[in-house]
Amino acid sequence: MYYIDIHNHMLTGIDDGARNPETTAKMLQIAYDDGIREIICTPHYLPGTYETGKAERELRVSHLLGVTAKFFPGLRIWEGCEYYAAFGNLTEHLRRGGCGTLANSKYMLVEFSPETPGDVMERQLLDIVSSGFWPIVAHAERYTAFENEDYRFHIASFCYLQLNADSINGDYGTRIKRLARKMLSEDIVTFVATDAHGAHHRKPVLSVCAEYLETHFGTEYVEKLLYRNPKCIIDNVRI
Ligand SMILES: [Fe+2]
Repeated sequence: MYYIDIHNHMLTGIDDGARNPETTAKMLQIAYDDGIREIICTPHYLPGTYETGKAERELRVSHLLGVTAKFFPGLRIWEGCEYYAAFGNLTEHLRRGGCGTLANSKYMLVEFSPETPGDVMERQLLDIVSSGFWPIVAHAERYTAFENEDYRFHIASFCYLQLNADSINGDYGTRIKRLARKMLSEDIVTFVATDAHGAHHRKPVLSVCAEYLETHFGTEYVEKLLYRNPKCIIDNVRI
């Protein structure tokens, strides 16, 4: 089994991820060596700050694919974005060709600021659902609203939750690690991804987390979070 990374900022120079082509190349090498064979590129789409549209993202992914075919056989790369949803106006951003879904599926990777009030998150997520998309809450372990057990179960009842591998590993402190691991044990998590931003810090590595998952939850759980569920995005099949 190989890994699929559904959250990754390795496209060069369009957000706070890879700053230059060398970093992108290093990130590709790290991911490939780690056993990752499919990557969905998800640069931030943050109105007013990061506004690279879908057409440009697709172009960059196709350029990258041209290079990777020679050096990384079997590696597949898909276009996507990470949509900052707290401001609303989804329909307008879609109409302008701005934000979009993952790998041309109905799945949409959505983020908020960590302190966003729970009712604001809920309202925007419901708006995405009512627009016909399937929202995935990016790095769900970061939000203070999710400290409330009832709230996170409620959101998980109509959205998918993604955790960052490094948060599970403990790289972002005890509070975030504890919440991430709690959600794993509650079985409300659908995806674990790298959210990689560079080649030295926040690297595209899933194997360390896979070891933790294997030890505490077993092989089946590793496959589900790092391969089978992500594959459903590529295939545009509802989980
Ligand atoms: Fe991200």
